[in-house]
Amino acid sequence: MKILIIGSSGTIGSQITEKLATSHEVIKANHQSGDVQIDISEPKSIEAAFEIVGKVDAIVCAAGNVAFNAFSELSREEWEVGLNSRLMGQVNLTQIGIQYLNDGGSITLTSGIIADYPIAYGTSAATLNGAIQHFVNAVALELPRDIRINVVSPTVVTESLPIYGDYFPGFNSIDAEDLAKYYLRSVLGIETGQTFKAFAGN
Ligand SMILES: NC(=O)c1ccc[n+]([C@@H]2O[C@H](COP(=O)([O-])OP(=O)(O)OC[C@H]3O[C@@H](n4cnc5c(N)ncnc54)[C@H](OP(=O)(O)O)[C@@H]3O)[C@@H](O)[C@H]2O)c1
Repeated sequence: MKILIIGSSGTIGSQITEKLATSHEVIKANHQSGDVQIDISEPKSIEAAFEIVGKVDAIVCAAGNVAFNAFSELSREEWEVGLNSRLMGQVNLTQIGIQYLNDGGSITLTSGIIADYPIAYGTSAATLNGAIQHFVNAVALELPRDIRINVVSPTVVTESLPIYGDYFPGFNSIDAEDLAKYYLRSVLGIETGQTFKAFAGN
């Protein structure tokens, strides 16, 4: 398979890339590095990246920014970070990406545990994670040519605890290597319209 991985240089994306690259052709797409650069918050950047990459069998998105702040402090600009990236970035990636997916291809997006278990400063993330999960559930019914779509909802990643750990008091973390398996299940399996909740035990 030819697989486009957006966010391949990241904590999560690098593990997905490592696992899939052993037996598939992987195209690495990051904001600033990789085989191709892409900014999912800009539809023109998504189109330009696919023009370079061409047809693929699978698209994986392990990227999508969102702002964390107390609800009373969340500015319009902070809401727009997540709206343009976490939500519409992944929606636009899907809408543009299906034009470049071969028959029977797949799309795998990323949300997060905050959709189910709210945390302080996480209202924007909770809202937009929930929205992307509902998007996947609905759009799966409309995708053409046997194209599948799923979303992985990770708990906090163990390797990210030094950065995000204080936001997730008492939460179980998941190692990036174990989390990557949920993405492989989406890419290589047959399921569609699903949210893979990578947080058993929370
Ligand atoms: N880590 C966690 O604990 C955790 C838990 C739940 C959900 N998530 C979500 O999972 C996703 C990946 O997390 P991570 O920890 O692996 O992130 P990370 O280590 O910060 O890596 C982010 C990746 O996304 C790329 N990227 C950043 N902005 C982008 C944009 N506008 N368009 C395209 N690519 C962009 C980066 O590319 P460059 O390196 O070129 O900047 C990098 O490859 C994020 O959406 C995050 O919110 C993470």
